[in-house]
Amino acid sequence: MSTDDTTTEASSTETESTCGASKTETNAESKCGASTDSGGSSSSCGASTDDEEKVGATVDDFDADPGRLVTVGLGPGQPEGMTARAKAALADAEHIVGYTTYVDLLPDEIVEDADDIYSTPMCGEVSRTEEAIDRALAGNDVAIIGSGDPNVYALSGLALEILESKGGTASAVDFEVVPGVPAAQSCGARLGAPLVNDTVSVSLSDHLTPMADIESRLEAVAPEGFTIAIYNPWSRKRRENFQRCCEILLEHRDPETPVGIVHGASRDDEETLITDLGTLPELGEAEVVDMTTTVVVGNEETYVWDDRMVTPRGYETKYDY
Ligand SMILES: C[S@@+](CC[C@H](N)C(=O)[O-])C[C@H]1O[C@@H](n2cnc3c(N)ncnc32)[C@H](O)[C@@H]1O
Repeated sequence: MSTDDTTTEASSTETESTCGASKTETNAESKCGASTDSGGSSSSCGASTDDEEKVGATVDDFDADPGRLVTVGLGPGQPEGMTARAKAALADAEHIVGYTTYVDLLPDEIVEDADDIYSTPMCGEVSRTEEAIDRALAGNDVAIIGSGDPNVYALSGLALEILESKGGTASAVDFEVVPGVPAAQSCGARLGAPLVNDTVSVSLSDHLTPMADIESRLEAVAPEGFTIAIYNPWSRKRRENFQRCCEILLEHRDPETPVGIVHGASRDDEETLITDLGTLPELGEAEVVDMTTTVVVGNEETYVWDDRMVTPRGYETKYDY
């Protein structure tokens, strides 16, 4: 996942983090064991340092009985978009670890009740995740938070990979994934009913996936009958990816194919636009398309009715209505 794919927010005041202790607003330093070598908070996405890839302490360096480690999906933004299970998991967590923007999305009561909140700005995914693991290995109940769902371009996989590299096991830290509503579904809901049939997601972030691979994936799915949800569609460094994506889609799909654009679903700056594929390239520089936008490209049957995108499920082929 690229938590790097949302707007950077400057790091605010820092108090010292210990494995069980002080309340912090934003904190880039850990005393929890392993992360002190990691330069995540100062690295920039796409230019990660060797340090950021290093894993420090192993399970043998911790004496305590491990606590819990849960990855929690917050859904699209506002607290009312969180599942009851996600809220309960956060209420139970002693420590909450996340990207600054996601910490800002937490309900006040969750922040107030937590023993400690550890947040870092964008691009600190590896060091931040390791920090969460170290805290769990040190005996704390820890939640790693992210927008949408933890299994959609997010940190659940990284947490398990790092845990394994430390010599740990998922059951030792009682690892659990608490799902959230992914952006594609939140955005689909805002657009009407565009995702009712087979859908694939493609991320245009080349932070972790080479653009050549992203192009291959687009080439593979564009000719097929999928609705396509495009994540991470645009950033200043990713202008060309967006244009290349539009070119590939237009090679295989009619320019009149409906396209829905949702910026900031369920957030204060939410904006929705329904357009067509032929118009999409010129929207690359529009404010509505940025790093908190999901673009939904209809299939050959998708149509626009009363300002809603509709992708038929196929009932019309079997039933009269
Ligand atoms: C790194 S991915 C994380 C996806 C997240 N785990 C999920 O399940 O939605 C970040 C991308 O998700 C999409 N996204 C996240 N929140 C969104 C929102 N509120 N509205 C529209 N798109 C959003 C954007 O495409 C953004 O670039």
